[in-house]
Amino acid sequence: MNSTVTPNPSYPKHVAIIMDGNGRWAKEKGKIRTFGHKAGVKAVRESVSYAVKHHISALTLFAFSSENWNRPAQEVGVLMELFKLVLGSEVKKLHKNNVKLRVIGDTSRFDEKLIQKVEAAQTLTASNTGLTLNIAANYGGKWDIVNSAKMLMEQVQSGQLSIDDINEDTFGQHTCAADLAPVDLLIRTGGEQRISNFLLWQVAYAELYFTDSYWPDFNQTLFQTAVDDFCDRQRRFGKTGEQVSQ
Ligand code: FPP
Repeated sequence: MNSTVTPNPSYPKHVAIIMDGNGRWAKEKGKIRTFGHKAGVKAVRESVSYAVKHHISALTLFAFSSENWNRPAQEVGVLMELFKLVLGSEVKKLHKNNVKLRVIGDTSRFDEKLIQKVEAAQTLTASNTGLTLNIAANYGGKWDIVNSAKMLMEQVQSGQLSIDDINEDTFGQHTCAADLAPVDLLIRTGGEQRISNFLLWQVAYAELYFTDSYWPDFNQTLFQTAVDDFCDRQRRFGKTGEQVSQ
């Protein structure tokens, strides 16, 4: 990873990325889909390096959705092996760069070895104070919201919480990544323009950026282009343009 630059207060604090286009990237090269996933690891490194260098507080990457289990078993198997491999090979470097790694999503469906690797990586990097890198795995935005509702209901049932205490703050506190800034910028590679059940709660006021580039081609220059585009936007949060520019 490269050295850091002066923090820019206009930059997004939390960036989320839907890493799409691995399969098409591979197909265009006459290779099988999983070749694209393996190539996508380099783009993960590039984006983490960019985020570290530019002091972005949180980067959340959509690695595996709750719907991705419906893919051919061979592809799911390769992805799981790739996650294990990457966790093993990258975690020391992340730790050295003060990155706090977290996996968000329902990891209970993963095999024991992957769960152990996730836990070891999270424990090793738990006290780091630099970039928080969230890997969304077996994650679904609807699952996240339902999970929060269940936790609040349990507290209501046990008398710890009253229904009147349920509001956007308490609800949000039980969603994944609750301790992080809301997503400022959501990037999707691969040309599609949809959210695909990613961070539904957390992207309420995110700026959306879509690029035709396939994920394996994503690099620090393309990340910078997305951030520059973000910096050119006026974020109004429901106010008028005149109010915001005052
Ligand atoms: C979507 O492309 C990509 C995925 C479902 C997997 C992403 C995984 C990686 C980049 C591997 C490493 C990641 C980490 C964080 C360890 P797609 O297969 O849907 O592409 P397509 O739309 O062209 O078919």
